[in-house]
Amino acid sequence: MSQDTQGLSQDREPADGFSKGGFILSAIGSSVGLGNIWRFPYLTSENGGAAFFLLFTLCLLLIGLPILLAELSIGRGGRGNAASSFQRLSGRKAWGLFGLISVFGSVIIMSFYGVVTGWTLHYAVRSFSGVLSRETNYAESFQTFTASGYGPVFWQVMAMVIVCWVVARGISGGIEKFNKILMPMMVIALLVLLVNALTLSGARAGIEYFLKPDFSKLTPESALLALGHAFFSLSLGMGTMVTYGAYVNKRQSLKTASLAVVGGDLLYALVCGLIIFPTSFTYGLESQQGPGLVFIVLPAAFHAMPFGFLLGGIFFLLLAIAALTSAVSMLEVPVAFAMEKWKWTRTKASLATTAFCILLGVPAALSAEGPWKGYKWLGRTVFDWFDYSASNVLLPFGGLLVTLFAGYVWKQSAQEADLRPVWAKTWLLLLRYLAPIVIILIFLYSAGVLRF
Ligand code: PHE
Repeated sequence: MSQDTQGLSQDREPADGFSKGGFILSAIGSSVGLGNIWRFPYLTSENGGAAFFLLFTLCLLLIGLPILLAELSIGRGGRGNAASSFQRLSGRKAWGLFGLISVFGSVIIMSFYGVVTGWTLHYAVRSFSGVLSRETNYAESFQTFTASGYGPVFWQVMAMVIVCWVVARGISGGIEKFNKILMPMMVIALLVLLVNALTLSGARAGIEYFLKPDFSKLTPESALLALGHAFFSLSLGMGTMVTYGAYVNKRQSLKTASLAVVGGDLLYALVCGLIIFPTSFTYGLESQQGPGLVFIVLPAAFHAMPFGFLLGGIFFLLLAIAALTSAVSMLEVPVAFAMEKWKWTRTKASLATTAFCILLGVPAALSAEGPWKGYKWLGRTVFDWFDYSASNVLLPFGGLLVTLFAGYVWKQSAQEADLRPVWAKTWLLLLRYLAPIVIILIFLYSAGVLRF
């Protein structure tokens, strides 16, 4: 096979790519997102606290880490988009089609992610302007906001406009720059909130709830949720890391980057738990669950705190930054695809994909606690279906394809990943056996074929 189809294209560097530090920062920015703050706490509290955290950590290390390295290697080896990289490296069209599934997955996730990103912007603005701290019933005000219909749609459009603007400016001048400015701000916000949370009276009880495992609450479904969340949290299975990998130069160590991303994501999840649980315990709001957790429980808690409006503002700013740095990586997937496939300019591709994601996101915006909340199919609203099908079906399925591709199909994967022989062997073992078997078992379970 020629060098090109095997993807050992050392001589080809991307025209517009990441710098070394910029790449690590942007990859961490992609993984650290709403997943850690908005999704993780409610999944954890519904699935046995620390027991779920443990399960999640295992999924991150044993399945997430190898797949992350595989995705980055595929991107850098193939130097294409989330579909063409697979095709180029295997020389087969079918793999390009499989890759297309992940492009599709990223569009679906972008649609509902844009909605929640809009909520965070709205809440950040309301906190800093002092409006939020004057309110008293946060469940009601969240309800009024989401039920209005036009409110969430307006903020969804605002969020998507920011994301589009960043992506349209390219990799080094757009995505990397954006992450370089916002990520340090996010770390400062996180530290301020952590110190504050640990001094609250309910800190002990909250931490105990978060870190003391209750294995009786773990169900087989928890395993599916933990795996799905590991994929979601590391931005795997939908072409994001393949796409980012294509903009990395050959001198960068992909394994260092992968370790940094997994470590950063885990640490971030831990710190978010240490902020959220003490806060909700101190103010006696621990019973709140579900996606409304951070939008109802936390504003109420901040309301009761000294300097609450400032701390609340910082919190929602943190949330908005985390969401936006992830959202840009999501939109880059279809943008890179459209640019390569249809030879569109970056601006045209950014505008068109943004418009599409907005349109697709409107039903999600209206159904998440909104006027279309009542329209359910098999017990789920449109919003829930987007979230559930993307996180628990499309992402693991995309991840499965990556394990098979890097484990069996693309023979040079270990070379591109540049691992020492022992690690290469371990990596391939995880990719060939453990990861696909676990993913398939969990799939069979969730489809009802398997019962424990
Ligand atoms: N990792 C992001 C988060 O935790 C979500 C995401 C999923 C981003 C898939 C990109 C791709 O919020």
